[in-house]
Amino acid sequence: MSKASWLVRITVMVMMMMMITVKSEDSINYEEALGKSILFFEGQRSGKLPPSQRMKWRNDSALSDGSDIRIDMVGGYYDAGDNVKFNFPMAFTTTMLAWSVVEFGDLMGTELKNALDAIRWGTDYFLKATKFPNIVVAQVGNPIADHDCWERPEDMDTPRTSYFVTPQKPGSELAGEIAAALAASSMAFRTTDASYSNILLDRAIQVFDFANKYRGSYNTSVGEGACPFYCDFNGYMDELIWGASWLYKATNTANYWDFVKSNIQTLDAGLFDFGWDGKQAGINVLVSQWAMGDSGSADLFIPNADKLMCSFLPNSATKSVSYSKGGLLFKPGGSNLQHATALSFLLIVYARYMNAVNKTIPCGQEVVDPIRLINIAKSQADYILGKNPLGMSYMVGYGSKFPEKIHHRGSVIASLDAHPAHIGCRDGDEYFKSDEPNPNVLTGALVGGPAYDDSFQDSRYNCTQSEPTTYINAPFVGVLAYLNKPTVT
Ligand SMILES: *[C@@H]1O[C@H](CO)[C@@H](O)[C@H](O)[C@H]1NC(C)=O
Ligand SMILES: *[C@@H]1O[C@H](CO)[C@@H](O)[C@H](O)[C@H]1NC(C)=O
Ligand SMILES: *[C@@H]1O[C@H](CO)[C@@H](O)[C@H](O)[C@H]1NC(C)=O
Ligand SMILES: *[C@@H]1O[C@H](CO)[C@@H](O)[C@H](O)[C@H]1NC(C)=O
Repeated sequence: MSKASWLVRITVMVMMMMMITVKSEDSINYEEALGKSILFFEGQRSGKLPPSQRMKWRNDSALSDGSDIRIDMVGGYYDAGDNVKFNFPMAFTTTMLAWSVVEFGDLMGTELKNALDAIRWGTDYFLKATKFPNIVVAQVGNPIADHDCWERPEDMDTPRTSYFVTPQKPGSELAGEIAAALAASSMAFRTTDASYSNILLDRAIQVFDFANKYRGSYNTSVGEGACPFYCDFNGYMDELIWGASWLYKATNTANYWDFVKSNIQTLDAGLFDFGWDGKQAGINVLVSQWAMGDSGSADLFIPNADKLMCSFLPNSATKSVSYSKGGLLFKPGGSNLQHATALSFLLIVYARYMNAVNKTIPCGQEVVDPIRLINIAKSQADYILGKNPLGMSYMVGYGSKFPEKIHHRGSVIASLDAHPAHIGCRDGDEYFKSDEPNPNVLTGALVGGPAYDDSFQDSRYNCTQSEPTTYINAPFVGVLAYLNKPTVT
């Protein structure tokens, strides 16, 4: 081989290697993102951590939760960057983790086990919160005192007040969502742990009865512990119908389906919300699996589900969302990525149900097929994982550029390993004010996300943008499982 041709060969090889590198940096690794999106939940764990804990910088915390009401409330998840256990959004988080497994578990491969562990960390806690008839624990931790401190969960010394609802002081949205979480989870565990699945289902039935029989909002029953933090703005009927929908899916009992059909019209059909507060859009999509093509019930749900899907088209006349220049979906309210992940989940699920019956949707001039809906969801996931004007991934620990100063107490303050001594209420402030990246990487956390102009401030002060929450991540688990192994072609 001549020297020249040898050089040419080397040059070509180097160029090819560079192209491969560029390509792999450019394309999204959904499998890696899926694993990380589930790992995040270990960083939010409260209670006694098991030996299998992989997020090593965390340690045991809040080991006497519930002692004030003599109910063991150890466990569950911290909600976001604080150390309060808000059971209403925690239940929605658990429902969405469970729906992710019910719908996409067979696509998850080795991550299925981790996803089930993440669900169980929620459901074990909800079994405690509903252990005694006629009382449902609503929350643990005084949120005002908690927010006044910048402390690691492992050091917490603020009042761990337990809040609860009863027949006299009811909370139908709280209990309705917990019933949904338990019923959905019973389906997630059905093939891998039948006895646990039965326990969850029995409890779901009992908790739904409580929610339905004693009607009222936990807003007023729990008072300032819950609202203004997680006020139930749109009422409790959506959670009751949502709970009944999941119970019908899990039990096939006609009573639950009758409940859904006879109450759905009490909800405002023009509301296309899906999140910890509004369940309307999720109900229509969930029940469409059996209502699509069922002449007796289709009209109650399918036109609204179709309208919801049309409302995501960027040029739709009935738009319910707007898109930034860079292509991210926006809705009013904080933590915008919660909308992008939850609505992407619904887009994919509905597309799959449509695909199963060869359905398309007339949206104005356009006929929308399943692939069109999936591509909208994919564009959201890709934006979140780095295909955006800043080239920034909004998942911590994924990609080469991601938020490093997230608003999260445990991530910001040195871990117990690094700093074993107690760090008191305001002693964490020096970590908060630091210009350094957070010492503990909360791998997999999705933050609130960029502003409407696609800009992002990687700043602990900007909690709207830099704080993670469990209900941003939970639907994304399902979205990533699907995009990693797409089935609609
Ligand atoms: C938690 O703390 C104990 C000592 O209190 C230590 O042995 C253990 O390694 C710590 N666990 C983690 C995950 O850091
Ligand atoms: C809960 O409180 C919020 C804020 O005060 C209020 O807007 C909402 O209507 C209340 N919800 C119910 C169901 O009472
Ligand atoms: C959908 O269309 C395919 C191909 O045209 C056909 O094989 C299948 O039977 C149809 N399925 C339903 C449920 O109509
Ligand atoms: C957060 O950052 C955005 C710009 O990216 C800005 O519009 C907003 O005012 C900031 N909020 C705070 C509280 O600093």
